[in-house]
Amino acid sequence: MQEFDPKILNEKPIPPPAEFQRRARLRSLDEYRKLYDRAKIDPEGFWGEQAKMLDWFAPPKKILEWNVPHAKWFLGGKLNVSHNCLDRHLAKSANKIALYWEAEDGKHLKFTYAQLHERVCKFANALLGLGVKDGDSVAVYMPMIPELPIALLACARIGAIHSVIFGGFSATALSDRISDAKSKLLITADGGYRRGHVVPLKETADKAAEACPSIEKIVVVKRTGENVAWKNGRDLWWHDLEAKASSNCPAPSFDAEHPLYILYTSGTTGKPKGVLHTSAGYLLGAMYTTQLVFDLRDDDIYWCTADIGWVTGHSYLVYGPLANCATCVMYEGAPDFPKKDRFWEIIERYKVSIFYSSATAVRAFMAWGNDWIAKHDLSSLRLLGTVGEPINPAAWKWYFEVIGGKRCPIVDTWWQTETGAMMISPLPGATPTKPGSATLPLPGVVARVATLKGETVKPGETGYLIIEKPWPSMLRTIFGDDERFKRDYWSRIPGVYFTGDAAQCDADGYIWVLGRVDDVIKVAGHRLSSMEIESALVSHPAVAEAAVVARPDEIKGEAIVCFVTLRSGHNHSAALRVALIEHVAVTIGSIARPAEVRFADLLPKTRSGKIMRRLLREVAEKGGVSGDTTTLEDMAVIQKLAAAAIDED
Ligand code: WTA
Repeated sequence: MQEFDPKILNEKPIPPPAEFQRRARLRSLDEYRKLYDRAKIDPEGFWGEQAKMLDWFAPPKKILEWNVPHAKWFLGGKLNVSHNCLDRHLAKSANKIALYWEAEDGKHLKFTYAQLHERVCKFANALLGLGVKDGDSVAVYMPMIPELPIALLACARIGAIHSVIFGGFSATALSDRISDAKSKLLITADGGYRRGHVVPLKETADKAAEACPSIEKIVVVKRTGENVAWKNGRDLWWHDLEAKASSNCPAPSFDAEHPLYILYTSGTTGKPKGVLHTSAGYLLGAMYTTQLVFDLRDDDIYWCTADIGWVTGHSYLVYGPLANCATCVMYEGAPDFPKKDRFWEIIERYKVSIFYSSATAVRAFMAWGNDWIAKHDLSSLRLLGTVGEPINPAAWKWYFEVIGGKRCPIVDTWWQTETGAMMISPLPGATPTKPGSATLPLPGVVARVATLKGETVKPGETGYLIIEKPWPSMLRTIFGDDERFKRDYWSRIPGVYFTGDAAQCDADGYIWVLGRVDDVIKVAGHRLSSMEIESALVSHPAVAEAAVVARPDEIKGEAIVCFVTLRSGHNHSAALRVALIEHVAVTIGSIARPAEVRFADLLPKTRSGKIMRRLLREVAEKGGVSGDTTTLEDMAVIQKLAAAAIDED
């Protein structure tokens, strides 16, 4: 969690840039407040009205059924998500570009709405041909290639539940997620490209499939052309299936609450949780926020840099923009390949007008220096966005001045995998911004900073960020574990959604999100659980016990620090340290690679045996502890850890 600097509460707000404001949908705080109040007074009326932006096969009869903590939105309504993202645009915009795709090696493709529709219909028919039925879960483990959004939209079209697993995850992480969702089908590729190297996805998928009896078929996109192992009868080439499939695939009608997807995310235990989103509410959340927060216009060229393996890619590279008939840019590879100006080159090439990226990316660009930017014409940009972690005011200001040329408002959007869509964010033409603050809740969202008793904290005091009313794109449950859903989100303050974030609210009602209060670590915006990393460490034969904490990192926001005690017969060594770092990267994926492993004889524990992570965090950050240690079992342990830290530094 970030240290909070109280000075920033006194920062003067920056008004929306005048030229942007002139053309925006909402142009003043008053207009925002009017909409906000309307939604607050009559949420069902408000969301019922917003839901008209979806194309319904049968309109909803009832807006909300709320049996805390279970919500059902738009009951009686029938629709098809894929139809909403594609078919309904064809009458007017068949030839509008839906997707510009750029490969890491510079090749590019483009798809009109008509072409994307055709590809989705064919693949949907291919899935039907493989016996995939509505309600079946389909695992997706793919690189950032056009077949990825096509696979998602094809699943949605036939009512199958997709479960995307980020392409950087290991075989173990993949098989855990496939087994939990009981996916029958896995869609992958022979490989992907990252910084010019081949990432052998099929090889990893094969390893994962060995541990997953539910998998009947594996569909493989040929991306790299490398030789891959092949199991006849189980493995099928995507292009063979598509070649045989008809492009006629009418979109059937599904209930508003039909499950759309599961997305696994890290929580406070080692077991990843499958966040379940359903159709109409989720799509509305993604569509409504894309329109409002990006102030999207018909001629925008929109680029969200997130990987579709994460929720940002789901909501803001696939469902939100396509439901709005936007033109999107999708890029396959790394931001520094072949050189550190790849993103600026892409913005210049496609004349990107809306750019949505992570705070980590912004800090990295800043560190790489302004020369990379000066070479490119970024005048097409009109709005910038950020997500995933708190953005420090210095990075915010750099983004505003150097990338946005002071003419582009910045939307610092706070939300979570669980919320499905943005919850707290400036409206770019209306909300004066304060660098580092996600500002105000969106109309329809009732957010507050409170104590555990539910009392609102005073301006400048730290509390928990909570959401008080249900919202359409909220998660419906944790797949297969409704108890965990109730416990994690709805029991700390009964009947209120607990975000797991600490925050402050200033005198203007602006919300400053400080970071997680639980054992979730955010490395480069990627959500990891300290428990998951700990269990990876203790699966190594040399490790007896492990405790994992985060320390602040200038670029990535947070970095992973592991404290490890060894089994007898094993000794501390630089080689073992490297081996343990590698072991975590192989067990979970390279995103979880620890920045540091520190050896200890014992870990500090409370009298009841709980590892005191707070103290370890202090040791990781400052090399010692100053806080209360009265419940500490053995004070000498901490002194030793601190000493070890100093020795190793
Ligand atoms: C953090 C990502 C500060 C927060 C969409 C949240 C942020 C977690 C912001 C969810 C922001 C996200 N400012 N912190 N603008 N956006 N977070 O599920 O801690 O990967 O709880 O969803 O990211 O991460 P997740």
